[in-house]
Amino acid sequence: MNEIKIGLIGLGTVGSSVLKMIIENSDKVQTITGRRLSVKTIVVRNVAKHRRQVPKDVTLTTDLNAIINDPEIKIAVEVMGGIHPAKEFVTALLNAKKHVVTANKDLIASAGEELAATAKQNHCDLMYEASVAGGIPILRTIVNSFAADYITEVKGIVNGTCNFILTQMQQQHWSYDQALMKAQELGFAESDPTNDVEGIDSAYKMVILSQFSYGAHIKLSNMSVEGISTIQQDDIQRAAEFGYTIKLLGISRRIDNGVFAEVGPVLVPQDHPLATIHNENNAVMVTGEAVGETLFYGPGAGGLPTANSVLSDIVSVTKNIVLGTTGHFFNNYQSSPSEIGNIDPKDV
Ligand code: HSE
Repeated sequence: MNEIKIGLIGLGTVGSSVLKMIIENSDKVQTITGRRLSVKTIVVRNVAKHRRQVPKDVTLTTDLNAIINDPEIKIAVEVMGGIHPAKEFVTALLNAKKHVVTANKDLIASAGEELAATAKQNHCDLMYEASVAGGIPILRTIVNSFAADYITEVKGIVNGTCNFILTQMQQQHWSYDQALMKAQELGFAESDPTNDVEGIDSAYKMVILSQFSYGAHIKLSNMSVEGISTIQQDDIQRAAEFGYTIKLLGISRRIDNGVFAEVGPVLVPQDHPLATIHNENNAVMVTGEAVGETLFYGPGAGGLPTANSVLSDIVSVTKNIVLGTTGHFFNNYQSSPSEIGNIDPKDV
């Protein structure tokens, strides 16, 4: 079996880019893994709308069973977004013994633990690098490169749409509405941008980052979350006069009895590295007791950057299939509180 067949669920900005990368970059993946990737089936809401986007040998359907009941399909890639029906779909896929790769932060932040347990029961991989900071390989980095260090703080810009809007308001003097419309046109914003601009998307990402960094299960309802929808030109200009840039930051840090996390607009001094992150780019600062402060930067939204993170997970799953190690390493992405020493991972 030299081919790994994939089922794709969703064909929006990210899904189309995943399809393109699998078609165009399959040679490189084959060199690395010894297996060729191909998309066999795509589940969409409207088949007619997508027919011309998809090669003729790919099945386009509205029926998830076309993936669930196909023993040839080993990996399912969920890029439809939202919590429902994505949660039911991913659960059904894992129960059908499909390895799942998803870019869905809403889903992982709200049901990651439960889905990881379902993956474990079924000896399947569940991976979601693309769910946080788009093209920045931050979850892998925390799991691998901070494996022996104690992380004390994670903060940064984790929503491309908000950073794009704030950058345009600051540099082009655009209105908030003008900038949001452009972010939607460029495919950075979610189909309903409320979660982006109200800070909820950033909060979901901070929940996942906190899980990885401290093993803490933070609930969204326990975080202070504020977005950028009330920020006006005047606020941006005044901040600049005093030497500051307004950025939407997610902040989480270890405190005595647990973890503190919040999301909100912050006045960042203009000479701080986070003030220099523009447009849809994201940046995550991770501070470890041993390593000190580190900064990871890259595109936080957009089709191809996010697809690259999805592909990195698909390649990891493929390697696990080849090595016969699937299901054993899903835990890479779910460090349990007992593994992280003296943290009390209670709700903040
Ligand atoms: N809407 C998200 C953002 C996409 O703007 O960051 C990537 O998660």
